[in-house]
Amino acid sequence: MHIAKKLARVNPSATLAMSQKSAQLRAAGADIIDLSVGQPDFKTPEPIAAAAIAAISSGKTSYYTAASGLPELRKAIAADIKAKKGYDYAPDQIVVTNGAKFALYAIFTAILDPGDGVLLPQPGWVSYTEQVRIAGGVPQEVPASDGFKVTVDDLDAVATKNTKAIVINSPQNPSGTVYTRQELTLIANWAVRKGILIIADEIYSDLVYNGTDYVSMLQLDPQISANTVLVSGVSKSYAMTGWRIGYAAAPKKLASALSTIISHATGNAAAVSQYAAIEAYTGDQQPVEDMRQAFEKRLNTFYPLVKAIPGFKLVEKPQGAFYIFANVRDAVNALGYDSVDTFVAALLDETGVALVPGRAFGMPDYVRLSYAKGMDDLVEAAKRITDFVNTSN
Ligand SMILES: Cc1ncc(COP(=O)(O)O)c(C=O)c1O
Repeated sequence: MHIAKKLARVNPSATLAMSQKSAQLRAAGADIIDLSVGQPDFKTPEPIAAAAIAAISSGKTSYYTAASGLPELRKAIAADIKAKKGYDYAPDQIVVTNGAKFALYAIFTAILDPGDGVLLPQPGWVSYTEQVRIAGGVPQEVPASDGFKVTVDDLDAVATKNTKAIVINSPQNPSGTVYTRQELTLIANWAVRKGILIIADEIYSDLVYNGTDYVSMLQLDPQISANTVLVSGVSKSYAMTGWRIGYAAAPKKLASALSTIISHATGNAAAVSQYAAIEAYTGDQQPVEDMRQAFEKRLNTFYPLVKAIPGFKLVEKPQGAFYIFANVRDAVNALGYDSVDTFVAALLDETGVALVPGRAFGMPDYVRLSYAKGMDDLVEAAKRITDFVNTSN
């Protein structure tokens, strides 16, 4: 059987692989603390679940919806963006997708001809690189020179005449870093000058901590907003990863191209999930704030524990999302492992703590620790890692 050449260099998702491995070990009876997860551990808030049940009971789920999403949902998303980011989208500029993941994939498919490039700041989320490849484009990875953030000089060093877009993810997965207004403005003006589309992945924008001033790409200047496609969804803010609802909010021409792709690729996102998402965006927002506060407490407890692990270096305290990205090169060297990957595998085998190797995010000396876990698990995980590093020494 022939598999397309463009897939030869595409790797399966390292985060999903790690979660699956720890699930298997747990099923076999091991005592696992899975810090590889990229999903909130909270239950979807009750009113959202109730809206889904009501949609099923009243028979609203037996039909296709518009491929780009229910008009009420697109209106609710536009209102949410207006309230939180101050920017006006018409509902037909919103395209509802099967998770933000598919919004990104549809965008790459819509804008890339073979050989076109997308600038991907490193560290960066695992799927951007592989999605660009699957869409026939060229991932242009840009190492960050300023901690975990890229600068215009970094971008200039990598951009080519074939560069069509840049992905800016703030708050960022895997480091939790948040770009300031000034940093975003410099990058955005550079992209506008060069005619490079800005893909603003702001899926973690409701999860910002300790008074950090969050600024959206849409809050800078109308010319920048007109050159931006916003990607977000309900997964992280509303503890709804399993419902698979994301969206792209785009200039009209791109929104229309995305609608065409979705109409042929997936059809509408599951109707029952769309009804749940309407409730998420229009209902009581207190659960979002409650979960944000819980994540903030966990960060403030877990961060100093991770910082104290011998051989773990933390560049900066995360300001958003729910991850800590630690440089573990010293620990790996001191313990005599040949790579972070083998260190992470041994840690899982011997202590039951699952982390994701930083290679998956473009930085092989690092590991990502998720704190989307209960406080007891976090404290216990930090203890197990510390003991592992100390006793193996
Ligand atoms: C940075 C980033 N973007 C997009 C997504 C996709 O989210 P979903 O497809 O669940 O909406 C994730 C999920 O982990 C993410 O971390």
